[in-house]
Amino acid sequence: MRTIIERCLVGLALIVVAPARAAEVEVLHWWTAGGEAAALKVLKQNLERQGVTWRDMPVAGGGGTQAMTVLRARVTSGNPPTAVQMLGFDIRDWAQLGAVADLNALAERNHWNDVIPAAIREFSQYRGRWIAAPANVHSVNWIWANKPLLDQFGIGVPKTWTEFVAALDKVKAAGKIPLAHGGQPWQEATIFDSVVMLTGGPEFYRDALIKLEPKALQSAMMRAVFERMKVLRRYVDANFSGRDWNLATALVIKGDAAFQIMGDWAKGEFLNAGKQPNIDFLCFRFPGTQDAVIFNSDQFVMFNVARDARPAQEQLAHAIMDPQFQIAFNRVKGSVPARLDIPVEGFDACGQQGMRDLAHAARAGTLIGSLSQGHGAPAAVKNAFYDVITAHFNGEYDSDEAIEELLSAVAAAK
Ligand code: GAL
Repeated sequence: MRTIIERCLVGLALIVVAPARAAEVEVLHWWTAGGEAAALKVLKQNLERQGVTWRDMPVAGGGGTQAMTVLRARVTSGNPPTAVQMLGFDIRDWAQLGAVADLNALAERNHWNDVIPAAIREFSQYRGRWIAAPANVHSVNWIWANKPLLDQFGIGVPKTWTEFVAALDKVKAAGKIPLAHGGQPWQEATIFDSVVMLTGGPEFYRDALIKLEPKALQSAMMRAVFERMKVLRRYVDANFSGRDWNLATALVIKGDAAFQIMGDWAKGEFLNAGKQPNIDFLCFRFPGTQDAVIFNSDQFVMFNVARDARPAQEQLAHAIMDPQFQIAFNRVKGSVPARLDIPVEGFDACGQQGMRDLAHAARAGTLIGSLSQGHGAPAAVKNAFYDVITAHFNGEYDSDEAIEELLSAVAAAK
């Protein structure tokens, strides 16, 4: 039998011998475009100032499809990263599998419940437990335009679908690319989000893309949506296939193209190229969707990690929720803060509009999760939509076939 003193000495020796794990976080994300990387740097530097080493795990691919594949492999091999950038329903899937950490103590100490809107908390929390730190709110129903080009062609901001199509025609006649587009399924779905909102309004958007009601999916309204997608297809250039979203934005920045329909991460690219809102570029809501905000929020989901890795993980979560960080990061990223207690003054014209629109939509009940960005339905359903939208955009289906295919693909994925 060892004496108490002996046992204490052994314990002490263990403490001295066991090397303390250096504070480090490994973060998996898909922010590899110029504007995205610039925004992420704000977070990296913030942590490094606190003595936390940042191990970067970038997986390129807009919308995060490839990143989610890599994540599955990492978790399956029993080696999850500290934190993972994630969208909407994917967060819930990982929570259901029991793979994520519990941030409740940190959240309570810092009153996260009071500052994060319910629509975002729906994904940051699972069964009453905080599991993710939301960095921002993006929205997809935006159009980005080259201002000098529009001025040159005498085009004002289009307020209706008819005006928008007339503007696209004008640009086409002048020999420029009317619509900068990257032919990847998630980008086509991003346009589809706005066209559904314009054509059917918020109620129809909810019925069709969130509640997945068969009646809405095969309605004349949905057929009209596909017909409008066909109209937009006329205005993309011949090389659109497979193009990354940021290269499409670059066409607008350079003045080769007039418009891009894209979420406000596009603003990050304009800013990163030294361009200014209302001078070099315009941001405005997709015509007919001015009252609604089709949102997505980038959240950092904290995974179950070893006990000694948890303090750094909490530091990361805390840093993401810090008001000063939410200002600095979102000014660069193009999104708006996830926190509701941030003043609009520090933001540029597009950012201020984004913040005002968000507050208005939250009050009016028109703040609606984006299907294309994983906030409308789980991944299987989202991917079923992607397949049909893309096949139709590329002329494989006419609009009648598209609604039939959509009905059966969604039913099979539900
Ligand atoms: C979105 C994400 C944005 C942006 C975009 C393109 O899903 O929310 O932050 O990065 O993908 O990569």
